[in-house]
Amino acid sequence: MKRTKILIMAVLAAVVSCTQHRTTTVGTTPEIENRVEKLLSQMTLQEKIGQMNQVSAGGDVANYADALRSGQIGSILNEVDPVKINEFQRIAVEQSRLGIPLLVARDVIHGFHTEFPIPLGLAATFDPELVEEGARVAAVEATAQGVRWTFSPMLDIARDPRWGRIAEGSGEDTYLDAVMARAMVLGYQGRNLDSTSMAACIKHFVGYGAAEGGRDYNSTYLTERQLRNTYLPPFEEAVKAGAMTLMTSFNDNDGVPSTGNTFVLKDILRGEWGFDGLVVTDWNSMGEMISHGFGTDRRDVAEKAVNAGVDMDMMTFGFISHMEDLVNSGAVKVSTIDNAVRNILRIKFLLGLFENPYVDVEAAKAVQYAPAHLDAARRTAEESAILLKNDGILPLKPGARIFVTGPLADAPHDQLGTWAFDGEKEHTVTPLKALQARFPGKVSYVPGLSYSRESKPSFAGVTAAARRADAVLVFLGEEAILSGEAHSLADLNLQGSQSELLKAAKASGKPVVAVVMAGRPLTIERDLPSCNALLYSFHPGTMGGEALANLIFGDVNPSGKTPVTFLRTVGQAPLYYSHNMTGRPYSGQTLLADIPLEAGQTSLGNTSYYLDYGAYPLFPFGYGLSYTTFEYSGITLDKAEYSADDTIRVTFTLANTGKYDGTEVAQIYVRDLVGSITRPVKELKHFERVALKAGESRTVEAQIPVSALAFVGLDGTKKVESGDFLLWVSGDSASGESTRFKVK
Ligand code: NOJ
Repeated sequence: MKRTKILIMAVLAAVVSCTQHRTTTVGTTPEIENRVEKLLSQMTLQEKIGQMNQVSAGGDVANYADALRSGQIGSILNEVDPVKINEFQRIAVEQSRLGIPLLVARDVIHGFHTEFPIPLGLAATFDPELVEEGARVAAVEATAQGVRWTFSPMLDIARDPRWGRIAEGSGEDTYLDAVMARAMVLGYQGRNLDSTSMAACIKHFVGYGAAEGGRDYNSTYLTERQLRNTYLPPFEEAVKAGAMTLMTSFNDNDGVPSTGNTFVLKDILRGEWGFDGLVVTDWNSMGEMISHGFGTDRRDVAEKAVNAGVDMDMMTFGFISHMEDLVNSGAVKVSTIDNAVRNILRIKFLLGLFENPYVDVEAAKAVQYAPAHLDAARRTAEESAILLKNDGILPLKPGARIFVTGPLADAPHDQLGTWAFDGEKEHTVTPLKALQARFPGKVSYVPGLSYSRESKPSFAGVTAAARRADAVLVFLGEEAILSGEAHSLADLNLQGSQSELLKAAKASGKPVVAVVMAGRPLTIERDLPSCNALLYSFHPGTMGGEALANLIFGDVNPSGKTPVTFLRTVGQAPLYYSHNMTGRPYSGQTLLADIPLEAGQTSLGNTSYYLDYGAYPLFPFGYGLSYTTFEYSGITLDKAEYSADDTIRVTFTLANTGKYDGTEVAQIYVRDLVGSITRPVKELKHFERVALKAGESRTVEAQIPVSALAFVGLDGTKKVESGDFLLWVSGDSASGESTRFKVK
């Protein structure tokens, strides 16, 4: 008896010490691991495979009752009615043999009911604390209704605005994306897990944003070095922040569809990063491996996906239909299934679903659109708007007679943007509504165009109405449906007759403020002469109208910065600030109009640019004006030479030299002058928002660990290479004077 007890204690100690020593990215505990093992040991093969099956819950709960009772479903997506979710859970928990609760998933992308700006707009805030707060709000609202898993954040670096899904991510930059990734994971999951924790799903792993030509679902050709230096770091950061789940992407990279890519899923994600969360496919992305020509049939792709490291099948039904046979035939090991199921159960235990699978339907109602949520959404929309032009007309003085026009002035559905499944337009505050509430009887309105794609031959009525006002506000942009999944565009100008509408407003001779609400950076160069000021707001969400009114009238000073380069013309795509140094950087060569007739070909002075559009964008990454002005001075580094484990201390003085209080996003960029491979001309390494009163100046110290300069060089290892560097502190990626330093 005594010997048996000692033996059991020894085994337990071994299990505990083994789990304690293994790396855990999702924060599991020995207790949870014991519960996972105990449950796993009771499961039949069919029940295990059932956990690996995710289905879309359209329609009647009764349709799924048999499958739930027999343990054939591990997760559902697309059900948000708390009454139905409780019913689903009740069948799974009370009527199935092992009572395993469901993971209920939803695309809660930038808010649940209270919609925040689209993710590209969130990134424009350069404010991770605020973005975390927004993700928390989304989690509080969604979990109250029983949604415990969101398919967000999307971490795909996007450098081609033709790609409609550029709306869903943080833009073009690896560092900004990584900072936002952490913020969103912490916000969704909460800093401590409780009943408001919603598991984050980092997606789409990997490279999806580099689709050829910006055509959604297209192939990508990213080298391992590009993946490691540019596309993977935000995912790694999110894993470090504790992201519980990850989604594979639709694209094939260099011929290998992500859902069957052992290298990224096993070697990198599980092996190098130690990820012990759940890997789910994208919707039928396993099945699409047949369309890719990467597998013969569903059985074949199910085998490839599970052996590559996929735990859960979203909507291919490949696992549920073929896995038993695959295991019995020896094509898939039982240990592979066990590991997948462990990854799924671990998340269910961590979320506390076994203790508390149900939600309180009445309490759920109370938190939707709570005043604090609306307030956070408004503040975020304010911080995310980017002032791109201002000849001094903004902010407008209260008391002015306002004429409002444009298809986005009162478009409550469209200003919510893409992936706003649960945002209800009845709750949207449009700019028109906000302005009318603010200045009762003082706002006149003619829509001009009723939707963004509409074309009209003339706008005489608009010009006439504009003449009767002191200032004209023209709300332009894109309908929500013009960006997002599968909504790529080859023409990025304002659609329909919007440019003509703006011109008609300008023809009134009155000051014109253009406000663009869109899902991507549109090519607005041709529209700039038709306005005195232009405020760009990536679809700003529920409270967008109030936020824009506050900005236009100066209650709030714009502080957003471009999270992505704004092109002059679509033919420049892809154009991004951190491109590699070329052998022939542009230095102001001849443009099309200056080429003499029958000019002879020469090999002198040839550089990298377009004859018709030059080398530069309309607005660079990190750009955005304010009603005040900022000046940087006294940029100093604490040393001239650093070792690889040092921290660079950068001090600078930032002065608000204008008449308004304001906030500047100070940015620090670095160039590694010589490397074992060519290096980017600049890379963002740090940013911070600095709030300054009019006339105030402050000394700011920023710290950058030298390790942040590491990259994967010629030998394939990630390290900081010694040599000379340049560093800029500035208000955007295209200005400022550089300071030099060395790394030993
Ligand atoms: C397909 C999209 O690519 C993905 O982002 C989304 O989460 C799933 N559908 C589920 O709706």
